[in-house]
Amino acid sequence: MRWITPAPGEGFVEYRERGRAWERTPAVYRPSPGIGGSVHTAELRNLRPGTEYEYRVLVHSDGREFTSQVFATRTAPAADSDRFTCAFFCDTGVMGRPGGQADGVLPVLQELRQARPLLLLGGGDYAYCDKDPRFKTIATGIDAWFRQIEPLACEIPLMAQYGNHEVDLVERFSDWEPRFAHPAGGQGRCYSFRIGCAHFAAFYAPVKTVDPQDVAWLDADLAAARADGARWLIVFQHQPIFAHGRSHPANPDIRRQLVPVIERHKVDLHLSGHDQNFERTFPLRSAFDAPVIASQDARTTPAGIGTIYAKISPSGKRSDIGGDFSHYTCPQQDFIAVRDDGAHHYAMIAVDARSLEVAVHAVSENGQPSRVIDRFTILRD
Ligand SMILES: [Fe+2]
Repeated sequence: MRWITPAPGEGFVEYRERGRAWERTPAVYRPSPGIGGSVHTAELRNLRPGTEYEYRVLVHSDGREFTSQVFATRTAPAADSDRFTCAFFCDTGVMGRPGGQADGVLPVLQELRQARPLLLLGGGDYAYCDKDPRFKTIATGIDAWFRQIEPLACEIPLMAQYGNHEVDLVERFSDWEPRFAHPAGGQGRCYSFRIGCAHFAAFYAPVKTVDPQDVAWLDADLAAARADGARWLIVFQHQPIFAHGRSHPANPDIRRQLVPVIERHKVDLHLSGHDQNFERTFPLRSAFDAPVIASQDARTTPAGIGTIYAKISPSGKRSDIGGDFSHYTCPQQDFIAVRDDGAHHYAMIAVDARSLEVAVHAVSENGQPSRVIDRFTILRD
């Protein structure tokens, strides 16, 4: 786990199962890329799976001890058969942004916190410091984003991938990487992890080109996951495979490079963002060239017949291009099952050994609860 304190100093984590004695693990720390302070990283080992833990963080600084409040979080399930949920979100912005473009971030984060999935998958583009006039420095904007996500991320592990706004424009990978905690993986920027029966690969695709070394990493990673018996393969990244909005249409070069790998290992679900609207395909084969629709059933599909690509965006911030959602520039293609360019979106994904259930939420502007605008299930025998 990783946390940031305004003061430098030696950090610790204290943790326990509810009602038991505290255990303490030391953290390592390094200077924060933010406004002073430290980034602390601690690794907790031998936790019991499927268990709720309480924890608090402590820092010794200038002869004093500072202790956080007590938080609660859960560990991953014990058995492959145990059901869990995760959420995917991206393109958030920082709430209160002048101009109103980040009008969706507060209700999205509120709903995610209330839903309390086991983990959060971040698809990139978080703070948008480049055009937010409140932030005179990059670090100030990034720190504001972390304060905004803290109520969620202190309870629900955040597995973040990087978008173009984390590596290009005014923000840099070196600003964000020290603050996110994730496995090292490929070149320190692609990574993967296993939760129950599902393998998640966070692929580094923040801009319009992908690195062949990262593609090779994904190929080997997915092969190893299948060999290890993963029942579900889920890949998430920032750049979309299919996108037809006016702001950020998909780059076909990324499709041509990645889809052969995705199809070779029969990835079940691919998640992305960047283009600020929602588009979800039927299960597809040969998607790198001329997509073949493996099934026309928009609600239920058997696993293994094709990959479903879902671009789920934005989760808070409208596009800087036109100050709105990214409206479509073409009629809906026959391989797109559902699309919507009039709301903010996020997805809830329920996983067990037999099914992968995805519900895509559209967040209204009037304070009403979100609507589920797409729900589909992939079934495996
Ligand atoms: Fe983006």
